[in-house]
Amino acid sequence: MVKVLFVCLGNICRSPMAEALFRKMVDDENLSGKIFIDSAATSNWEVGNPVHIGTRKRLEKENISVAGMYARQLSSEDLEFDYIVGMDDSNIEDINKFISGRKSGEVKKLLEYAGDNSSIADPWYTGDFDKTFEDVEKGCKALLQKIKENL
Ligand code: 4NP
Repeated sequence: MVKVLFVCLGNICRSPMAEALFRKMVDDENLSGKIFIDSAATSNWEVGNPVHIGTRKRLEKENISVAGMYARQLSSEDLEFDYIVGMDDSNIEDINKFISGRKSGEVKKLLEYAGDNSSIADPWYTGDFDKTFEDVEKGCKALLQKIKENL
């Protein structure tokens, strides 16, 4: 089983978007038995809260539901994930501080898998869930391609 964890600041906008979209892509390729997917926050700010309505509405256009998903914070068990995927540089810095030299999976920004060193803008601040979705989709496609090549 390959384990993929998406991480952002609050775990209510970007990382749940990536989790839900990536799960759909994985299901569509009949790979759900081989790839385990989750998401978490670097902060404790939104712990227990449901997915942001902007993310929910954007995903509804793709017929993707986020029912039953609630924010949680990164924990030591998460070091077991093979891929720990942040959205921006600040996420990567916070993830690496959390890991602080312990053994962990690969830590990268989502768009790096698409050969792009950009960050995924936080729609909590920009309000632009469409742009975030486009970037998340681009990164998720590239990440899935990479994982498939190594399955
Ligand atoms: P996310 O967005 O990291 O994409 O989930 C945010 C959600 C909540 C807050 C900031 C960013 N907040 O300040 O509570």
